[in-house]
Amino acid sequence: MPKQDARKSGRTARKPAAKTAAPAAKAAAKTAAAPAPLTIGKLIDHLNADLAKEFQALIQYVQHAAVITGPQYDAIRAELTIHSNEEHAHAISLAEQIDFLGGTPGVDVATVHVSAAAKVMLEQDLEGELDAIARYKARIGQAELLQEYGLRRALEDILMVEEEHARDLQNALDL
Ligand SMILES: [Fe+2]
Ligand SMILES: [Fe+2]
Repeated sequence: MPKQDARKSGRTARKPAAKTAAPAAKAAAKTAAAPAPLTIGKLIDHLNADLAKEFQALIQYVQHAAVITGPQYDAIRAELTIHSNEEHAHAISLAEQIDFLGGTPGVDVATVHVSAAAKVMLEQDLEGELDAIARYKARIGQAELLQEYGLRRALEDILMVEEEHARDLQNALDL
């Protein structure tokens, strides 16, 4: 009997410990599972956000190229127009990729940044390019993860051009 009592008490003693461990384990599992698995649908959403930023960049470069003044900005003015055309090509490429993946290319435009000051315009453009570089690096990894190798190739081509754009702007800003 005393042995049974001991087992009983042992069981009773362990129970509360088990009770407290369970929620802790659940919480840990929840934290570990926090980043939801990437799906094609999620990737399409990301690509549509990228597309909205390509439309933004296209418009922003058209506006900046038209209004930027100052003899020191002559060379970059021509570059801004070239950038605009290249952003247009990126938008076409992204729209085709989104459609190919079974999504619908969006028509949203992210916020366009303008300024009366030439230097600020170029800083706004550079900020956009650095953001694009970071986004496309992430997107290439996501395409790889889902074994979408055609998309990865298209994104790599876009990334190379965004890096050139950033360099052009950094040179113009003497960075
Ligand atoms: Fe672009
Ligand atoms: Fe760009």
